[in-house]
Amino acid sequence: MSDSIPNLNPVPLAFEDAPKYKFSEVPAESRVRVYGVWYAYLKDEVGNEFYITRLGWRLLDNLQADNWYTDKTYSTNGEHLIEGSGKVYRVPTENRHGNPCDLVVKFSRFAEAVPLHVAKTFPDKMPEDVGDAEFNDPFQEFGLLIDLRNGHFGDKSLRIKTKHPVAIFSPSKRVPAWKLGREKSRFDKYRLRAQKNSDPKYSQVELNIDQQYVYLFAWVKGWNAAVHAAEGLISEAEARELTLRIEKELKEKGFRVLDNKPQHIILREGKDGKIIKRNGEFEYALVDFELLQRTEEYEDFLREKNKMK
Ligand SMILES: Nc1ncnc2c1ncn2[C@@H]1O[C@H](COP(=O)(O)OP(=O)(O)O)[C@@H](O)[C@H]1O
Ligand SMILES: [Mg+2]
Repeated sequence: MSDSIPNLNPVPLAFEDAPKYKFSEVPAESRVRVYGVWYAYLKDEVGNEFYITRLGWRLLDNLQADNWYTDKTYSTNGEHLIEGSGKVYRVPTENRHGNPCDLVVKFSRFAEAVPLHVAKTFPDKMPEDVGDAEFNDPFQEFGLLIDLRNGHFGDKSLRIKTKHPVAIFSPSKRVPAWKLGREKSRFDKYRLRAQKNSDPKYSQVELNIDQQYVYLFAWVKGWNAAVHAAEGLISEAEARELTLRIEKELKEKGFRVLDNKPQHIILREGKDGKIIKRNGEFEYALVDFELLQRTEEYEDFLREKNKMK
């Protein structure tokens, strides 16, 4: 990695130049580190911006806007995933070498008010502070998600599988803040937090109130537990038990998801037509982390760790 360059806007890398570099060799001026996550910063010829993670680097070709965004390809060529109130699509893409990858395209709702029905779906009881719930912004969410994936806290033998965060996309077209449901003071809180959590040795990430932010994830093979329950592959009781098991496992790893529910748990059918298990328990991967948080216990642990530095 080359020398760091403080306090400048990142210098965008062009898509045609990007394949020259391994992810870890992207020039320092074209990378940012926010909430502990490295991104390579790219811009295409029409000014769309891309923050690509290490997990997304091999999908550089698939990620180009023409493959899934331009002329609303995500809607014309993709499948609208209707679960909550979000705008989420599954879009098939192929890169130049013919590598197929289904992308999940999700329009971020941060700095909007959290709809109340989100809280009602919590399995057991509502957590006390759900009233203060706010959606993570994409950088915050990727930071938490990668921390969860790395799994440094809690039982080391327990690994939680999740969808892969591959990029954050911001279209060049500006949208008035009111249309995005954003209120300035609420937005500013996010903007300042993103600045504060940008690594000062590199460029800063500046969230703009009139820019949309879109998450890109890789599709996890399988279907959610509510679908499997509706089709009779698992029982309602098993779906419920699994949801509670996951709540416990997340807690063990220092996290919670305020709207943890069967719709966010992906299970896969094996060749024998049964849901795949490992050591007698369903093998699962999680999706939807807009309301992912660290537990107090993990936050305390991190504070102590930082004090010792
Ligand atoms: N990466 C993914 N892999 C597989 N299925 C997904 C993925 N992301 C979302 N889904 C499916 O799409 C549904 C909606 O996505 P979600 O992120 O929960 O959006 P929202 O709650 O805003 O509608 C989920 O319940 C899940 O069934
Ligand atoms: Mg959801």
